[in-house]
Amino acid sequence: MQIVRTLPELRAALAGRGRPAFVPTMGNLHDGHIALVRQARPLGDVLVSSIFVNRLQFLPHEDFDSYPRTWDADCAKLEAAGCDIVFAPREGDLYPEPQTFKIQPDPALADILEGHFRPGFFTGVCTVVMKLFSAVFFASGGGTAVFGKKDYQQLMVIRRMVQQFALPVDIVAGNTERAADGLALSSRNGYLSPEQRAAAVQLSQALHALAQAASAPDAAPLAALEQQAMEQLAQQGWAPNYLTVRQRDDLQAPQGPAAPGTLVALGAARLGGTRLIDNLEF
Ligand code: PAF
Repeated sequence: MQIVRTLPELRAALAGRGRPAFVPTMGNLHDGHIALVRQARPLGDVLVSSIFVNRLQFLPHEDFDSYPRTWDADCAKLEAAGCDIVFAPREGDLYPEPQTFKIQPDPALADILEGHFRPGFFTGVCTVVMKLFSAVFFASGGGTAVFGKKDYQQLMVIRRMVQQFALPVDIVAGNTERAADGLALSSRNGYLSPEQRAAAVQLSQALHALAQAASAPDAAPLAALEQQAMEQLAQQGWAPNYLTVRQRDDLQAPQGPAAPGTLVALGAARLGGTRLIDNLEF
């Protein structure tokens, strides 16, 4: 497995290697990331993963500095999963000067939910993903990138960006990996105390309950169900940001009855100092 640091090194490493399959990450890899890497393996001629903690997508009070950096373990996992090239730029390699040109995603999709509670988050994500795509797919003129459904809104925003800019990249979605109790795997689970870890599954349980209530033939209005779900989670000691039911394709609130299989329940809530997100398609 080859490790490269700079954009020219990456472009040189990929020259003549065919179409890449690409899995971007911020490192601290868990089984959810590795499942995406394994999914990506047969989707390209050469498998590239990036490790870069992208300052642009963190708010000043967020965990950029403390975000876990586990380089040796990450490389071992990527190699075992069949990764050919790890692109791990230093900050100055990707942002040699302040990044004053940025991708401004559609506010209708990117300023709601996560974007409402983390203003500028998707600008930071889109900007770095655009830069990573330009590096990874430069030599081949295109390929495939795999993004996890765990970050559901991110996946939708990236899909729209690719469509709007006509980028020659196929976006493939990877299913969320879960622990035995149902907790979605996330790098931020590592911040939880043992007691919090035991309680953390309550977020996914709340989404299941919300989806079930919303699917009932005599369901109460969605706003009431969402409010009830937030209150219940708050009673369990969480500080919820949102628990909501949206249309899968545009993440807007459904207007009237929706066909089965077209909705997603999304949630974000803080347990102690740790903010977790999860979602459930139904
Ligand atoms: O999902 C992530 O880990 C990040 O948002 C990404 C896509 C690697 C961009 O920094």
